[in-house]
Amino acid sequence: MPSRKPQRVASRAGKSYFVRTYGCQMNVHDSERISGLLESDGMVPADAPESADVVILNTCTIRENADMKLYGYLGSLKAVKDERPGMQILVGGCMAQRDRDIILDRAGWVDVVFGTHNTHRVLDLLDHSQEWGPVAEVWDETASVEDMPSMLPANRDSDHSAWVTITIGCNNSCTFCIVPMVRGREISRRPADVISEVQQLARDGVVEVTLLGQNVNSYGRDLDLNGRSPIFADLLRRVGDVEGIRRIRYTSPHPKDIKDDVVHAMAETDAVCEQLHLPLQSGSASILAAMHRGYNGERFLEKLEMARRIIPELAVSTDIIVGFPGETEQDFQYTLDVVAAARFDSAFTFQYSPRPGTPAATMPGHIAKDVIQERFERLIELQNRITFENNVDQVGKIEEVLVEGPSKRNPNVATARTRGNRPVHVDGTFEPGSFMNVEVTRAAAHSLFGVVA
Ligand code: SAH
Ligand code: SF4
Ligand code: F3S
Repeated sequence: MPSRKPQRVASRAGKSYFVRTYGCQMNVHDSERISGLLESDGMVPADAPESADVVILNTCTIRENADMKLYGYLGSLKAVKDERPGMQILVGGCMAQRDRDIILDRAGWVDVVFGTHNTHRVLDLLDHSQEWGPVAEVWDETASVEDMPSMLPANRDSDHSAWVTITIGCNNSCTFCIVPMVRGREISRRPADVISEVQQLARDGVVEVTLLGQNVNSYGRDLDLNGRSPIFADLLRRVGDVEGIRRIRYTSPHPKDIKDDVVHAMAETDAVCEQLHLPLQSGSASILAAMHRGYNGERFLEKLEMARRIIPELAVSTDIIVGFPGETEQDFQYTLDVVAAARFDSAFTFQYSPRPGTPAATMPGHIAKDVIQERFERLIELQNRITFENNVDQVGKIEEVLVEGPSKRNPNVATARTRGNRPVHVDGTFEPGSFMNVEVTRAAAHSLFGVVA
């Protein structure tokens, strides 16, 4: 990026934009800020990328297929741009951060590449590319709290639920994971900033917030408030005091760091939902050690037992990776054992994907694709059975649900969520964002059915 900063070329009033988001909630959150920024410059949302003046792809690079999807999609956009040369294409997010030069090389029709801490620069970069041609700007030094997208205007997807960033980046070193390389060191937001954002959201009608961080349990370690570091358990209680917020969720805690102070804060704060996403990754002690996770299967189950002792009705979800380098059939069996013992309500299961630059990518013992696939299927079969059995246990219960909106399949049925984050389908039309009590009447593989109680 040259130091000559061009003047803003034109306001984009009336021009249209389309944001396509890949990856996790962090990206969903960032995309809402990107939209907010563009709208602050007068732009309006387009119905489809094909008709938009500006298309933004907010990318993910957590697994290899995320990369492939992106290049496939960029290829199809080239054809659109050939027809409409005035269109501008921006690529941001985690993969942009890592591969900025590769993207400009492989896709010369891209106008702007911007990194994970460069979101606030999107309008300037658009101006710059219009005048000077393609431009890439990513970060290489540690970001500052001021670079957080949380500070930018937002155009939120939902009127009643909102994401709230509490930390960005990650200081852990899980050997399979690219996130620290693309999101940088961990930075916490000051509690007062988090609280004032939540208060503003509540004033805007939001009733549910999800606090976001790669490892929420290390929240505050980098902050110094009068000689003391704030802690996550206190933050939960303070968010719980914000009037109007009826549901609080958070993701993710790290099994090595979660302690009973956080679970007590959850139990004692009415608005915090009885739900925990606790990523297991593997059940084998030696694989967990090679992953640098800092716990073993037994320790994980102890933490889970502690959490369920304090909150008996806790719903638990997890993440699991199959086929990490060196994983033997016995290691995989340990994963199945922990999954059987943990009885998760749901699990996000992944096939290990080597990420260039991570320690695991060069470890010996990479597992053949067909072996990974076969183990993956066995794991899914076990977890599906447990998910269904847990869903069956919900039948007959009266649950408070928050309405999300009409079901995708049937407009006469509403989809809502329990406090445990289980989806429930309820006959009828109900206002999105409203609460009601339903009786669970039937369980399906991944959802519940209910009637207004
Ligand atoms: N910070 C979160 C995880 C973020 S990434 C945590 O520690 O829980 C989300 C999930 O993607 C991870 O939990 C892991 O299960 C999966 N994942 C990350 N890197 C991966 C890789 N190289 N291959 C397959 N799955 C991966
Ligand atoms: Fe990745 Fe581990 Fe950090 Fe999660 S805690 S983002 S898996 S390095
Ligand atoms: Fe999320 Fe993908 Fe980045 S999972 S942090 S968007 S690499």
